Amino acid sequence: MTYLGIDIGTSGVKALLIDEQGRALGDASAAAIEPVRPHPGWSEQNPADWWTACLAAIDTLKASHPTELAAVRGIGLSGHMHGAVLLGKDDDVLRPAILWNDGRSAAECKEMEAALPSLRQIAGNIAMPGFTAPKIAWVRKHEPAIFEKIAKVLLPKAYVRLLLTGEHVEDMSDAAGTLWLDVAKRDWSDELLAVTGLDRSHMPRLVEGSAISGHLKREFAQRWGMQANVVVAGGAGDNAGAACGIGAIRPGEGFVSLGTSGVIFVSNDKFRPNTEGAVHAFCHAIPDTWHQMGVILSASDSLNWLSKITGQKQAELSGAAEAQFSGPGEEIFLPYLSGERTPHNNAAARGSFVGLSHSTDTAKLAQAVMEGVTFAFRDSQRVLHDAGTKIHRLLAVGGGSKSALWLKLIATNLDMEIALPEDGDFGGALGAARLGLCAAEGASPQSVMTMPPIRTVIAPDKNLSAAYSDQYARYRALYPAIEEARS
Ligand code: XUL
Repeated sequence: MTYLGIDIGTSGVKALLIDEQGRALGDASAAAIEPVRPHPGWSEQNPADWWTACLAAIDTLKASHPTELAAVRGIGLSGHMHGAVLLGKDDDVLRPAILWNDGRSAAECKEMEAALPSLRQIAGNIAMPGFTAPKIAWVRKHEPAIFEKIAKVLLPKAYVRLLLTGEHVEDMSDAAGTLWLDVAKRDWSDELLAVTGLDRSHMPRLVEGSAISGHLKREFAQRWGMQANVVVAGGAGDNAGAACGIGAIRPGEGFVSLGTSGVIFVSNDKFRPNTEGAVHAFCHAIPDTWHQMGVILSASDSLNWLSKITGQKQAELSGAAEAQFSGPGEEIFLPYLSGERTPHNNAAARGSFVGLSHSTDTAKLAQAVMEGVTFAFRDSQRVLHDAGTKIHRLLAVGGGSKSALWLKLIATNLDMEIALPEDGDFGGALGAARLGLCAAEGASPQSVMTMPPIRTVIAPDKNLSAAYSDQYARYRALYPAIEEARS
């Protein structure tokens, strides 16, 4: 028997097949169309593009691994969190999805917190424009005709699930990122829903990530040569999915993710809200488990931006930075290209380069970008510590973890060893496949979500620690100064 994990990412869809022991059998990817930014700070994608990419990735697996694909018993989904997919009464998509890195709804966040003073206690989180509910508050105010037609609001992977199974269902880890969930009770909150003029009828049914959410429609089972009754698990938001993939389900276990966004993720045995420092506190994708995160909005996406404006590939930029690296230089980068969540909670923040000179070249800019993102992780680690959280173990995940220099910068700045898994960068797809296995076989998540073999452990470079502490102090001083000058 085999299990299929499908990760719907902002930049593409990844499909991964595993066997009963959780070993990777084959994978395929399909690029998605990049988010559209109709205004500065906005970010939208067409849900149909995720579906096209999802079919393309699985069809590719069908061509390369037909036997293994035919043996699939369980499917798990993971996806980028928070995105608002608005559906009408016939499940028609009412407008492009507003994504996790869209900052348009800052005013609505303030209004929501004023309307329900207990919002932070129930949701366990600050109302931030990245979350789903404020996006709906924005639509209600600015696009009332669309708001009136809303029959259901789904997150990105729940939309793909709807097309695969015909069911409106969401898992707890992704639901926690809507700001409509009572995160301690793992149930929708009528009070939170009412703040945005919605009720339970607009929400998908809730299941745990490792539980059954539905079954694959017959037409897709036939298309991919699978038996009838393939189980589709609840799945996970991409971060909880990545945690399931690296076995981070016990307190203090976590990861640092260098994806489009950047995340420091830590598992908790209890719901541990701490809205100071804009720490996120969400449900994990397995029962009775929660997690905290510090989230930065432009991690690899900062290098992606530099790549676009210099015309050099990201790997060329990070390679050039590594080749001439000798510790922090004069250049400092603030990675707030989409505003920032942790620790500033400021959708209007913007990126900056300071300390440029005639000797600044693209390699130095690339180094500063990688350092700026690293300092943003250091900020997240600081506020998680302030929240009383102890991080025992961090694995590195995400596309940016291919850069040895970036990992050394992170280990040195967090003053922690960072372990790099042996297998390729499967991100949420491996966790999703593992959740598919749990749902299909009734296996316990604790027995399935184990730590993968580790390729290498990156230690902090003690010779650079003092220089980076000084540079980090300069970095921290820049944000308030620049914000004051911009306001
Ligand atoms: C987490 C977040 C991002 C997205 C995209 O809160 O917004 O990590 O899930 O990956």
